[in-house]
Amino acid sequence: MSLSFEDTATTDSNTTSAQQAQKKRLINGWHVDVNQLMPLKYRWAWEHYLNGCANHWMPTEVPMTKDIETWRSNKLTADERLVIMRNLGFFATAESLVGNNLVLAIFKHITNAECRQYLLRQAFEEAIHTHTFLYIVESLGLNEREVFNMYHEIPSIQKKDDFEMQLTSAVLDPDFSTESFEGMQQFLKNLIGYYIIMEGIFFYSGFVMMLSFHRRNLMTGVGEQFQYILRDETIHLNFGIDLINGIKAENPQLWTPEFQAHIIDLIKQAVELEIAYAHDCLPNGILGLNAEAFRNYVQHIADRRLERIGIAPLYHSSHPFPWMSETMDLSKEKNFFETRVTEYQAASNLNWD
Ligand SMILES: [Fe+2]
Ligand SMILES: [Fe+2]
Repeated sequence: MSLSFEDTATTDSNTTSAQQAQKKRLINGWHVDVNQLMPLKYRWAWEHYLNGCANHWMPTEVPMTKDIETWRSNKLTADERLVIMRNLGFFATAESLVGNNLVLAIFKHITNAECRQYLLRQAFEEAIHTHTFLYIVESLGLNEREVFNMYHEIPSIQKKDDFEMQLTSAVLDPDFSTESFEGMQQFLKNLIGYYIIMEGIFFYSGFVMMLSFHRRNLMTGVGEQFQYILRDETIHLNFGIDLINGIKAENPQLWTPEFQAHIIDLIKQAVELEIAYAHDCLPNGILGLNAEAFRNYVQHIADRRLERIGIAPLYHSSHPFPWMSETMDLSKEKNFFETRVTEYQAASNLNWD
């Protein structure tokens, strides 16, 4: 895949900044020079970029001593260890799939400089997230092959990843183009598959499971890292929703009743894959969590995501883990982050979902 400079038209020096900004398009906007960030048109993309930068953190800044002690002790049951291992296994490669999809599939087709600026920031955050799993595996002395190969070996993880990888392959097809109606719908499907389903649904039961340990004062270093990841992913999700809704607004012909029905079908499939994954992580349940509660949780989360892209909720399930909202709220409080990472936290308004 080569970067095509001939696609970047030179801008007319007689037009005003406002006129230049108006010409920008999220996709198929090659008539505007994608190398010129200013004048900004999509301020939301720039805001998400600034929020991402304000939240900068590194996994190695989180102390792991207590986690190592706990992992080596007999404080964790076999069922608890299974929950932790399955989630590390899922996230270790899911973060790479998201990063690869951004860089290889999405970036090329987004024809807007401010959105590309955000994608570059997000890609780095995905690298930090993958780095986190290497750091956890090394700190706890886990079997690296077992963790990083789990997406080939555990069927419930493999099914979630296969679901996503098919969406990447469709965009990587040499014949793919966003110039056709079908191509634009396929691209929108990729964005919904990654931002709404992967980062907005598939990640969330893992967040609940891992943060439930933190809540019990167990594996607090890993828990803190998951809180930072959750905070980053909240912005990824919000950017994705703005991007999807922006493309819909610029290309309203794409959002046909058939396409919406197809998206609803994808969400239903994803919800079932996620419920199966929760059962696989929690065959016997652990303190405060059982697999059945995840049916309600995943359905509740899916409804919230659907609403954000203009589709009516499907499930109307209740939220079984009210403490998750408290955990998210806590992260906004000034003194919550006790490690040096706090220093990166500038005065920004975190927009939790
Ligand atoms: Fe991530
Ligand atoms: Fe992400």
